[in-house]
Amino acid sequence: MAKLWGGRFTKGTDKAVEDFTSSIGFDARMYAEDIAGSKAHATMLAKQGIISEADAKAIVDGLTEIEQAIEAGTFEFSVALEDIHMNIEKRLTDAIGEAGGRLHTGRSRNDQCAVDLHMYVRKAVVHIGELITDLRKAILEVAEANKDVIMPGYTHLQRAQPVLFSHHLMAYFSMLGRDAKRLALIYDYADTMPLGAGALAGTTYPIDQSYTQELLHFGKIYENSMDAVSDRDYVLEFLHLASMVMMHLSRLSEELILWSSTEFGFIELDDAHCTGSSIMPQKKNPDVCELVRGKTGRIYGHLLGLLTTMKGLPLTYNKDMQEDKEGIFDAEDTLHFALSINAAMLRAMKVNGARMRAVLQDDFSNATDMADYLAKKGVPFREAHAIVGAAVQHCIEKGCVLADLSVEDFKAISPIFEDDILDAITIEACVAGRSNYSGTAPANVMRQIENGKKAVRAE
Ligand code: ARG
Repeated sequence: MAKLWGGRFTKGTDKAVEDFTSSIGFDARMYAEDIAGSKAHATMLAKQGIISEADAKAIVDGLTEIEQAIEAGTFEFSVALEDIHMNIEKRLTDAIGEAGGRLHTGRSRNDQCAVDLHMYVRKAVVHIGELITDLRKAILEVAEANKDVIMPGYTHLQRAQPVLFSHHLMAYFSMLGRDAKRLALIYDYADTMPLGAGALAGTTYPIDQSYTQELLHFGKIYENSMDAVSDRDYVLEFLHLASMVMMHLSRLSEELILWSSTEFGFIELDDAHCTGSSIMPQKKNPDVCELVRGKTGRIYGHLLGLLTTMKGLPLTYNKDMQEDKEGIFDAEDTLHFALSINAAMLRAMKVNGARMRAVLQDDFSNATDMADYLAKKGVPFREAHAIVGAAVQHCIEKGCVLADLSVEDFKAISPIFEDDILDAITIEACVAGRSNYSGTAPANVMRQIENGKKAVRAE
């Protein structure tokens, strides 16, 4: 097939080279952005008298038909035409003749592919932002529905201190809230228009970039044409965001996997979100969680891959940069599934508060509170720590927990203990006592939930 750039060539492209250099297999995904960008460019060219109004109308109408054909699935993409930009331009020129050949006036594929990707990233940011908000809503719902459930809190995956289950969940709400903020910044980067940069240096035509900016709803225009066609920072920012969200979801997945094991038994995932074993009839596996955890590695790979691709590139456009797309498309798809399935999974899972409570009856999660009791009565905390440590050791030898000791036992450990010691180290007291601003006391967690509701309403 004759190339749109074939003028200076004396022979056709090697088939393997065509296959290797073509990006149509993945960049067809940006067809809507490519068409919108071309329509705006043609409209601007006509307004500036660079092409005629009649040509601009033919271009815009022709592009509308192409868009319809792509959406109807009747558009035939050609590998020989390399990418989405050339596929559309060639089809347009075939359909409308000379006017189609005027579309690329004052423009290069370098600023064209850049403007398409900027618009695509803006759209992806909105898409992912909605899904993050929905997952945050799901977290709020589950936290509120289980606001009285107390669970063991962990450090080093060893039982540490009792916490509200809702407090634990709301930590994820906060993490995802930071991700939502990051998205706003990425939108701002993507919302800068590179069109008008031409190949790298700008254009000799009297184009009106402010007008294309307005038509394409960009917040601003690149100051520097060379930066405009070289910049892939916004793509990297998106991949970083994707890595961060996946890291957060991977940690949640890990906890859901642990909590749904027989050993923990804190939750049960819905059958709809698990799979079985081909050999072991009893199995119900948390495959979704495992895959979210697993796919996180792949998303990190996209970030590291593109960072590495970009690191040695001289200004301005280099074909290496065509590698910017597959990672971001895959990251968007992966985030789409991971965020939406997690929201559904949280909403549908059973929370076994009785089991969480039962394990707390059987451990030393209240040891800090026993030490705090002494410290509040004047014993230096380090000394209190040692006294309680010895008491824990004594209980382990006896095969009991602190709450099994009698008030007399406590008084024998230290004369500072009074009759109220057993009330001071109940599980409820441990939770209620942590009433500082960010602590797990019920009123504070409710404040987090109420503020959270306001935040998602505003998103
Ligand atoms: N498919 C190319 C890409 O995604 C489009 C830009 C090509 N520009 C060029 N001068 N070869 O990067």
